[in-house]
Amino acid sequence: MSNFQISKKQTGGLFGEITIPPDKSISHRSLIFGAQTGGRIKISNFSFGADCRATLEIIKQLGCSADFIDERTLILTAPKKLQAPASALDCGNSGTSMRLLSGLLASLDFKSTLIGDKSLSGRPMKRVIEPLSLMGAKIKSNNFKAPLEIEGRELTPVQYKSPIASAQVKSCILLAGVNTQGITTVWEDTLSRDHSERMFEYLGAKISTGRDEKGFFTSVEKSQLVPKDIEIAGDISSAAFFMVMAAIVQDSEITIKNVGLNPTRTGILDVFDKMGVNYEILNKQTVSNEPVGDIKVYYSPDLKACEISGDIIPRLIDELPIIAVLAARAGGETTVKDASDLRNKESDRISALASGLKKIGIEIEEKPDGFVISGTNKDFQGGTEVETHLDHRLAMSFFAAGLVSKNPVKINDFIWVNTSFPEFLPLFEKISR
Ligand code: S3P
Repeated sequence: MSNFQISKKQTGGLFGEITIPPDKSISHRSLIFGAQTGGRIKISNFSFGADCRATLEIIKQLGCSADFIDERTLILTAPKKLQAPASALDCGNSGTSMRLLSGLLASLDFKSTLIGDKSLSGRPMKRVIEPLSLMGAKIKSNNFKAPLEIEGRELTPVQYKSPIASAQVKSCILLAGVNTQGITTVWEDTLSRDHSERMFEYLGAKISTGRDEKGFFTSVEKSQLVPKDIEIAGDISSAAFFMVMAAIVQDSEITIKNVGLNPTRTGILDVFDKMGVNYEILNKQTVSNEPVGDIKVYYSPDLKACEISGDIIPRLIDELPIIAVLAARAGGETTVKDASDLRNKESDRISALASGLKKIGIEIEEKPDGFVISGTNKDFQGGTEVETHLDHRLAMSFFAAGLVSKNPVKINDFIWVNTSFPEFLPLFEKISR
C-alpha cells in the first residue's frame, strides 16, 4: 500500500453505517493523564494508530503497564511514582506526544530525552520550551527542535499568555502545573481544543476555566489525579474524510457512529452549514465528560464557497486539508486565512497541499497564512502523481480528491495514513458501492 491509485471509477457512492478510529487527542491524554493517577484504569475505544502507540510505549518506559482486553480496550496500571526511563523516549511522528510529555517530564525528578522521526525533528518546540523555562525547567534542544533533553525538577508556577492558540502548548503547561505548588494559569486569545481541561476535571484535578480581559484562561493547582475509567469517542478529524467524501461523491449517504462533538473541534460542521452540506446530528450524549453523537452526511451537489478565518481556525485546524477538497467542489472562491500554523504540522500543509491539489487540477493559490481555492462542481482532471510529505492527512485528502477525478491520481507513500487511520482503506471498501 506504499503507493496507491484512485479515481472516480473506484466508487458509485458511499453508503452505510461506519465507526471511525478513536479520537487521537483524547487517546494520548488518557495515557498521559492516566499515568499520573497511581492506579488502574480501563481505557475503552483507544486509538491504536502509530501516534498513540508511541505515547503508549513511552508511558511504559516510565513504569506503567498496559494489558489489552481486546483490540480497542486496555487496562492501564500506573505506578505510585513514575520512574526514570532507561533509554530515549521515541515520539515517532507525534507532535502531541512530544509537546504534552515535555510538560509532564519537566516536572518530574529525573532526566529523560524525547526524540522523534524526521518530520517531528523539524517541528518547532520553542513554543513549549519557552513557557516551561519560565517555570524553571531545564531543557536542552537542537536549536529549539528535538531531541529534547529534559532534566526534571520542582518547578514554579507561571502566569502565561500563549502567543498562539495551541492545545499542545496549553496542555504542556497544565501538565507541568498539576505537579507544581501554586496556581499555574495559561491564557489564549482563541480557545483551542479543551480535552485536557475536561480530562483534568474528570480525574479530579483542581482546575478552573473562564474568560477575562487577557483572553480564555485555564488555571490548575497541584493535584493528585484519581483513577477513573475513560471511554474515548470517535475522532471527528478522521470522520472528516468520510464526511467530505460522502458530501462530494454522488449517491452517497453515510452515518458515522459515536463521533466526538466537542465544540472546540466542530468547526467543520460550521463550514458544512456555510457551504450547504446536507447533514444531521443524531443520538447526542456525554461520555467521560465529552459530548458525542452520530453524524449522517448526504451527497450535497450545490456547495457554496465561503471564508474561513479568525476564531474558527483552531476548531478545524486539522480538517483544513480535507476542507480544501470540499471547497474545490464548491462554486466560487473559498478563502482560508489566519492559519499560518498549518505550516508547522506533520508537513508544511499549506505548500504541500497546494502543490498536490494543483497537480490534480484544482485552482488553488498559496498564501502565507492560508490559501484561496476557486471551486467548481465539475470533476477534477487527475492523471497525476502526488506526494504525501510524510503526512497522513494529506494522504487521505488526496484520496478524496482522487475519488472525484476523471483520471487516476497516484498517491506516493500512502502508507502514512497509518499514523492516525490504519483502517481507512478497508473501511472505504466496505461502504463503497
Ligand atoms: C492537538 C492539537 C493541535 C492539533 C493536533 C492535536 C492536541 O495542535 O493540530 O493534531 O491533541 O492537543 P496545536 O496545539 O499545535 O494547534
